[in-house]
Amino acid sequence: MPHPPTKLTEQHRHTSDPATSARLAWSSDIHLNHANLSAWDRWIEMHGEPELSGLMITGDLSEAEDVYFQLSRIAETFSLPIYFILGNHDFYGSSVAATRRIVTSMTRNQPNLIYLTDSAPVELSPNSFLTGDDGWGDATVGDYDNSPVRLNDFALIEDFYKVDPTHWRGKLEQLGKDSALRLKSKLDSLPQTARTVHVATHVPPFREACWYNGQTTDDAWAPFFVCGHIGNVLRNYANEHPEIVVRVYCGHTHSCGVASISDNLTVYTASATYAEPKLERVISI
Ligand SMILES: [Fe+2]
Ligand SMILES: [Fe+2]
Repeated sequence: MPHPPTKLTEQHRHTSDPATSARLAWSSDIHLNHANLSAWDRWIEMHGEPELSGLMITGDLSEAEDVYFQLSRIAETFSLPIYFILGNHDFYGSSVAATRRIVTSMTRNQPNLIYLTDSAPVELSPNSFLTGDDGWGDATVGDYDNSPVRLNDFALIEDFYKVDPTHWRGKLEQLGKDSALRLKSKLDSLPQTARTVHVATHVPPFREACWYNGQTTDDAWAPFFVCGHIGNVLRNYANEHPEIVVRVYCGHTHSCGVASISDNLTVYTASATYAEPKLERVISI
């Protein structure tokens, strides 16, 4: 269970009180295993904002063991908090549990790495919090049974290739459900003073936020590109807390768009191109 909400601490190389405003540099799906040195340098140079408060990366940093190398490299490059969650590619070559375990232990040694899946919500500016969880395309939206789509995930993540394909759907649903339960617990731990909640997750939580070439996804792709369980948690939370503005940041589709789900719930989906990591934008908190 996550701890109660915390303010940024010295451990995060910040002051103990939240600043009056914060500026987060948001990137998603940077897939650094595909990026050569000059692409890496270009990505670093995009963070030239003089007053950044931190970075936020919404998954697919790399693949397999390179994830750990890239996280350390980013943490050593920036003297800022690095808020991140993991995407499906980050688990390639291993299992979901083993990858999360190693990443979590890395954050103990590199305090400016903040794995939001394993962290309590962080107060970034007065009454504005950041939280998140990995999420997964959880087969709850679209038509899994009749979809011809099968992602590389099934061949490259132990949780899938070590079991019979008849168990894949149940595994997808469980991963989505587990993420949603963790996220709900973190949202429920927010104080009554919260007025804005920023949520980082990898997979779009609604079909309306799952963009590809300017269109939202169809029934064949939706099972793997929408995390319906997280969508339900977010929709319920926004409905139950009309006084709170909920802003969600995700990636996974590599195609950008903004979806207004309700008066106080908006989802921003980032674009991405392999081998050309980029800064999606700077978010004022
Ligand atoms: Fe990606
Ligand atoms: Fe992804």
